[in-house]
Order: sequence, then structure tokens, then C-alpha cells
Amino acid sequence: MNRHPVLPVFTNDALLSIASEILKHYRLDQNGIHGISHWGRVLENGIRLAGLTGANIRVVQLFALFHDSRRWNDHHDPEHGARGAALAGEMNHRCFTLAPVELILLQDACTRHTKGLTEADITVQTCWDADRLDLPRVGKYPVPERLCADAARDKAFMDLTRQRSMSNHLTPFTLELRKMLV
Ligand SMILES: [Fe+2]
Repeated sequence: MNRHPVLPVFTNDALLSIASEILKHYRLDQNGIHGISHWGRVLENGIRLAGLTGANIRVVQLFALFHDSRRWNDHHDPEHGARGAALAGEMNHRCFTLAPVELILLQDACTRHTKGLTEADITVQTCWDADRLDLPRVGKYPVPERLCADAARDKAFMDLTRQRSMSNHLTPFTLELRKMLV
């Protein structure tokens, strides 16, 4: 049984447009630790993982853009996930279209992404793993037990994401977005 509606994944252009809209009211440095280089790596991590976990890719794509989009600081800001979730709800049907079940998953993933949980729907788990694998950029190193899905615990993948995170690797998505914002 297909657990998710069959809707096309978001194109790169659609994601760039959504990200630009989000950034109109972004309060922090877009090149900071929770900014667009992080969004791009979470996006790549999530797409790669979703191919293995069976997660809803559309939700994983939007999680990368929304989950840290309404941070008010780069430190302790426990409500930022809920604010990002609310923004996704406001923008749905204006800037993109998610089915109700997809929006529920996205908002859950955003709202609880900093709680350190591992039990959730596989789509939510995939979002959380995509984000946690980019923690080395701030000196935190995810251990397999704190990740949700087996696919995220693959040693080669953990090594790759750690290296990219620590070197602030800029993905093609981030580079394109940067160009649009100049
Ligand atoms: Fe994040």
C-alpha cells in the first residue's frame, strides 16, 4: 500500500523559489551555522536517505528549508522548530502544495527536531537524521544510537556527512541560491 499521496517531488527551481520566499524574513545571517549552507546539506542528506528509507521525499525536501528558518538566534531557541512549522502551514497553497498528511509530517518533523527523539514516522525520522548528520559543523558528532534509521548509521555515509559538515561544504543548491540572492 502506498502510504503517501503520489505527487511529484519538488524541482530544484521550486525549492529555490520557496527558499527565497522564506529568506525574505529570515532574522539571522544566511551564511551562518543555521543558514543556507546547512539547508543545502540537510537537503542532500535527506534525499539520499529517503531513497533508502522510503520516506516521503517532498516532506524531506521542505524540512531542509523550514526547520531552522525561523530561528531568532543561533543558540538556545527552543520554539524555533514550531515557528518554522507554522510558517510552512502559512505558505502551503500559496508557495507550494502539500497534501494534509504531508503537512502534518512536515510540521511534526520541524516542531520536534531538536528534542533528541528517535521514535517517529519514517519520514519524520529521515528528516531528523538528515539534520543530525550535519551537527559536526558545530562540534557535535552524532553517534549511531542517536540516529533513527539504519540507513543513517552507515559508516561511509556518516564519514562523508561529517567531512562535508566540518568543511562547510556548499551544495549545488546552496550555490544557486546564493547567486539568486545577490
Ligand atoms: Fe538544522
